Amino acid sequence: MKTVELKIRENTEQHMQELKQWLLEIADSGPEEMSAFFTARIDGYEQHMSVWQPAYQRFAQLLPADSRSILDLGCGTGLELDEIFKRYPDAKVFGIDLCQDMLDRLQQKHGHRNLETVCADYCQYNFGSEKWDSVISFESLHHFLPDKKRQLYRKIYDALKKGGVFLLGDYIACCEEEEQLLRQVYTDKREKFKIPDSQFIHFDIPLTLEHETGLLQDAGFASITAADSINGATIIYAVK
Ligand SMILES: C[S@@+](CC[C@H](N)C(=O)[O-])C[C@H]1O[C@@H](n2cnc3c(N)ncnc32)[C@H](O)[C@@H]1O
Repeated sequence: MKTVELKIRENTEQHMQELKQWLLEIADSGPEEMSAFFTARIDGYEQHMSVWQPAYQRFAQLLPADSRSILDLGCGTGLELDEIFKRYPDAKVFGIDLCQDMLDRLQQKHGHRNLETVCADYCQYNFGSEKWDSVISFESLHHFLPDKKRQLYRKIYDALKKGGVFLLGDYIACCEEEEQLLRQVYTDKREKFKIPDSQFIHFDIPLTLEHETGLLQDAGFASITAADSINGATIIYAVK
């Protein structure tokens, strides 16, 4: 794996302190179902995410210019697509998201483009075989345990054309402690609030860069580059 001496967080100690304080504040609250979480916050969503504007721009810069067909997992309202369509107005995009309200906002912005969307779970959805030049995902895949992610990464690998690129922008844990702590709280909350295994909840369980890239390697990606990290969003570029 190639890394450009990436700093996942500017200040790891401060980040962990703030995280622990926040976990204390939410200690008694039950987790929200994924789609309902985003529907409830739809009006302030893009403003809330604006801290990652430079990361969306960088993400679009890293997308190979010859990507004719792009599969976007967890496209939401399409903040990454805003930047990608600026660079490549004719890009052909297929977006998958669980939340119809998010997709409606995306269609309001980009319905005139070569854009198709489906409201579905990308863990279940059939992406096809050797079909896409690029698969992209921004801030969506940090909600799954490693086993589920392992299956998803294999599916992404199979769906890419040879030489195709998986471009991932996501929340990566700054240290082993962050990964373990969040996973423990996630597991405890699921148990305490009796959340069925089949239900997605909005609770962040990021992996460290080492674990994330390990899963990509296991899936078969030939070259994996941790390209950048901007305001806590890490961009990984994996070539089939
Ligand atoms: C933080 S938003 C990111 C949206 C967009 N990529 C962006 O950066 O603005 C995460 C999105 O992932 C979607 N999502 C989470 N789990 C999903 C799943 N299993 N299948 C499809 N979409 C999912 C959510 O509904 C939500 O719209």
